[in-house]
Amino acid sequence: MPKTIYYTASSLDGFIADPDDSLAWLLSRDIDEDGLMNFAGFRATIGAAAMGATTYLWVQSNDPDGWDATLPSWVFTHRALIPALGVTLTSDAVRAVHAEMTDAAAGRDVWVIGGGDLAGQFLDEGLLDEIWVQYAPVMLGAGAPLLPRRTELRLEEAGRNRDFLVARYAVVR
Ligand SMILES: NC(=O)c1ccc[n+]([C@@H]2O[C@H](COP(=O)([O-])OP(=O)(O)OC[C@H]3O[C@@H](n4cnc5c(N)ncnc54)[C@H](OP(=O)(O)O)[C@@H]3O)[C@@H](O)[C@H]2O)c1
Repeated sequence: MPKTIYYTASSLDGFIADPDDSLAWLLSRDIDEDGLMNFAGFRATIGAAAMGATTYLWVQSNDPDGWDATLPSWVFTHRALIPALGVTLTSDAVRAVHAEMTDAAAGRDVWVIGGGDLAGQFLDEGLLDEIWVQYAPVMLGAGAPLLPRRTELRLEEAGRNRDFLVARYAVVR
């Protein structure tokens, strides 16, 4: 059964971006690209993705390669942004978009990229199965929250990948 997974990196105090929407505190860290819970291994299991407008605009401005056109992706927004190849802009209900994502993923898992409230909207609908977090060794004090909801989780796997404490949690329904 394919899973819907929120895979993200976070500060130790639970922020996925600082108050300026910067990830400099994250991208400066050391990680083994072949190590525990690495992105390439995760990406190989994913068939569709969803993100919010702020995250999409961050990728557009900061990633020189742009968005991965081989990954069917939905961007939640109320704005007329410019969609990259493979990107669908939407303000439809999360449940309906999730159904489209699941179809597109064709048996692979679905990735909720963030932000935290969008992951929370999937959680609210009972659609989120797992949360994978790479904790950077830093406290930010403020910023974009990891997942601003109260919810029970079960720790399934944890360990170290160089600078990062990495953990995989199941959502307890
Ligand atoms: N650490 C990491 O690995 C990681 C991962 C992901 C993101 N990030 C960063 O974390 C920050 C997250 O930003 P954020 O908290 O603003 O969250 P976001 O989810 O990226 O963007 C929020 C925006 O998405 C749109 N949106 C959300 N839900 C919607 C819905 N149901 N329907 C229509 N539109 C919806 C709204 O945009 P409109 O104004 O268009 O309505 C909302 O203002 C960004 O800086 C991002 O780069 C970090």
